[in-house]
Amino acid sequence: MKKLNDLFLDELADMYDAERRIVKALPKMAKAATNSELTKALESHLRETEGQVLKLEQVFQFFNEKAKGKACEATIGLLKEGDEIAVDFKGFPAINAALISAAQKVEHYEIASYGCLHAWALLLGNPKAAGLLQEILDQEKAANETLNKLAQASSNQEALGESPKSAPKEFGKVAGKPRTGARLIGAGGGRTVFSRR
Ligand SMILES: [Fe+2]
Repeated sequence: MKKLNDLFLDELADMYDAERRIVKALPKMAKAATNSELTKALESHLRETEGQVLKLEQVFQFFNEKAKGKACEATIGLLKEGDEIAVDFKGFPAINAALISAAQKVEHYEIASYGCLHAWALLLGNPKAAGLLQEILDQEKAANETLNKLAQASSNQEALGESPKSAPKEFGKVAGKPRTGARLIGAGGGRTVFSRR
């Protein structure tokens, strides 16, 4: 009978595989970016991701399990799409917006996965593992928010073929520590608009 412990270890193996694939993909994405702030953000997330692989190995240890990966088909697909979009948009004004959208799709998958893993680790009575999973979750949310800011400050405007200087003033700031638990909106500025009847 498969129960929460089995589900947790299955999902953990999925994310262990995902992070190791992301470690290989991020340098390529950073190289494909033509915006230096985006390159820096992707390189910084690469270092975080390398640390996440080690954190996941510790989580396995906290459950007395050997670290093992299980091919994460979702990440394989998302990274493949990212590769394709980087090739298709190379040399064009929309390249950075394209890379941001690809990276944000990966982040959102990770945020959903670590949200579940964190909750399950708590339910399974393993607060040490839950603490590490929360740390990773916070890093993914912050990375997503950095990407939002970069998209809004420059890359979306560049993609229109316009100067970043013409971007709206409130989107002009990129620097600053992203808030944890920040809004999960996409680079397209995915705020919900409620229409009145
Ligand atoms: Fe990650």
